[in-house]
Amino acid sequence: MFSNKKILVIGSNGQIGTVLTNKLGEKFGFENVVGTDLKTPKISTKFIFEACSVLDKEKLLNIITKYNITDVYLLAAYLSAKGEQNISKAWDLNINGLLHILNFAKDKKIQKIFWPSSIAVFGPTTPKDNVDQYDVAEPTTIYGVSKLAGENLCNYYHYKFGIDVRSIRYPGLIGWESMPGGGTTDYAVDIFHKAFKNKKFTCFLSQNRILPMMYMNDAIKATIGIMEAPTDNIKIRTSYNLSSLHFNPKQLAQEIKKHFKDFKITYQPDERDDLAKSWPQSINDFHARNDWGWEPNFNLSQMVNDIILNLRNRYKNN
Ligand code: NAD
Ligand code: SER
Repeated sequence: MFSNKKILVIGSNGQIGTVLTNKLGEKFGFENVVGTDLKTPKISTKFIFEACSVLDKEKLLNIITKYNITDVYLLAAYLSAKGEQNISKAWDLNINGLLHILNFAKDKKIQKIFWPSSIAVFGPTTPKDNVDQYDVAEPTTIYGVSKLAGENLCNYYHYKFGIDVRSIRYPGLIGWESMPGGGTTDYAVDIFHKAFKNKKFTCFLSQNRILPMMYMNDAIKATIGIMEAPTDNIKIRTSYNLSSLHFNPKQLAQEIKKHFKDFKITYQPDERDDLAKSWPQSINDFHARNDWGWEPNFNLSQMVNDIILNLRNRYKNN
């Protein structure tokens, strides 16, 4: 397929990368998409794959040059729960990985960057509901601290060097195609697999812990949507608030029970519940809707139906 884009996805084996890299391949041609991650994926990919750490600047530049990369989606990061276990490594990966890519753009090696932030940039001093784009952001996790610093790096490189870097603050993401990699919202993926396997699930968040969440299909739509939007429409160069769903584990379990009548959930909140407690419950994404036309497709029951339909096929065939 002809495309004037050559895309590099860094962190292509992860929860989002697994889905995004394939969607980009379908849209722009698999021969125009390169995935990189620390290790070669277990299942062979339709896109080109090169094992490389984002912290290995020289090797990364060789890949960028070899494939004439124009657009980079930088997904490699330590998420919230994993980050608390490895503060220095989380800072190193989340900040230095981003700096390498921003500097490649400054040196005209690449043209456009997508880098995701998170609702974790907000903290306990932020209002809980309908959080505005510009509400106070004083995060109390190293993940949130690194994401907030990253947002400001993106903004700085845009205004100082004209770098076209685009970002959204993902809520907790839920999908059926891939497993999450060490976040606080991982329960909302695991719960589906436990419902299929043994009809019971122990949740590490409190039953009433409401968080902003989103179906993976909508997250991918937003990601490609912001990258394809005309440059003039991108008015925020830190990172856009993005919203679709908010619910607590009890509400998700109730929705799942409509499909598995004998499904049982119990609650054993651990330290991840404290991380979640510091975050907002719902987000106002007026600017994303207004500037580049963001609109989600899935409500809670539509998402649950779609995930269960797809997992039913997967478990039947395995
Ligand atoms: P993930 O942990 O599932 O995947 C990250 C991938 O990066 C993994 O495959 C890992 O092997 C790879 N990686 C780690 N270190 C690397 C390195 N040095 N070089 C190259 N690759 C490396 O994460 P995800 O959920 O797919 O998240 C992707 C991005 O989206 C992250 O920036 C994350 O902060 C952000 N985000 C995710 C969520 C969510 O709910 N999943 C929510 C908000 C923001
Ligand atoms: N889903 C992410 C996490 O839990 C939020 O950015 O870390």
